[in-house]
Amino acid sequence: MDWGIKNRISRIIKPASGRAVMLAVDHGYFMGPTTGLEQLGDAVSPLLPYADTLMLTRGALRYFIDPAVDIPITLRVSGGTSILNPQLLHEGNICSIEDAIRLNASCVAFSILVGAEYERDTILEFTRVVDQARSFGIPSLCVTAVGRDMVRDARYMALASRMGAELGADIIKTYFVEGFEKVVETCPVPVVIAGGKKIPERDALKMAHDAIAAGAVGVDMGRNIFQAENPVAMIQAVRAVVHDNVSADDAFNHYESLKAEIAAHA
Ligand code: R5P
Repeated sequence: MDWGIKNRISRIIKPASGRAVMLAVDHGYFMGPTTGLEQLGDAVSPLLPYADTLMLTRGALRYFIDPAVDIPITLRVSGGTSILNPQLLHEGNICSIEDAIRLNASCVAFSILVGAEYERDTILEFTRVVDQARSFGIPSLCVTAVGRDMVRDARYMALASRMGAELGADIIKTYFVEGFEKVVETCPVPVVIAGGKKIPERDALKMAHDAIAAGAVGVDMGRNIFQAENPVAMIQAVRAVVHDNVSADDAFNHYESLKAEIAAHA
């Protein structure tokens, strides 16, 4: 693997733990002003010290994030459909490699939709992006998106994740499912899990814990952090699970005590 790609990956997946807390705030590219991200800059700013990378769109980066901030950027470069579109996730490339470089992206992220009618479009476009990014030493993260009608199980996630890796991804982002070991064991590149829709904090921490225990290198989590009752406490609890192998119960207790501490100083 090229030195530049390795170096950029090591800015995201921290060599000390081999793990990563990726903060996903890219929802606006298909969901518009998502709850919790209406004022994206204000929402993200207190979370940055606890994130290993910020995943977002070029517009969010330019409009809401201070260029002086010291955090690697994972740039969302696929899109093209909104949450209102029945063909949601029929995505193509929405950002050139030149613009990704201009924005100093450490990684580019692209969603493929395996098993859908238009899977071929998303896969071919993904491989074009991988080739362009690779020629500049930039790694690619493949998001194994799940269409509305698709079953989320280990068999499907393993298939989509392995495909993403064999098509050229350096990191796979997928969903946590029962039997997640199978997804990780059959995927030759590091795997992170998406958070998905907001669930109770205790459950989100358990999901992160179980994913790590099954071999994931981290999380690429959005709503379960920025829609938490206390996002700053939540990202620190997630961080404890990911980097310090803290149990789900201990992480939840950590969350509760941080929340109380923050409230006391408010
Ligand atoms: C999914 O493909 C997008 O990257 C989402 O915006 C991201 O997965 C959101 O993270 P979460 O599901 O944890 O809110």
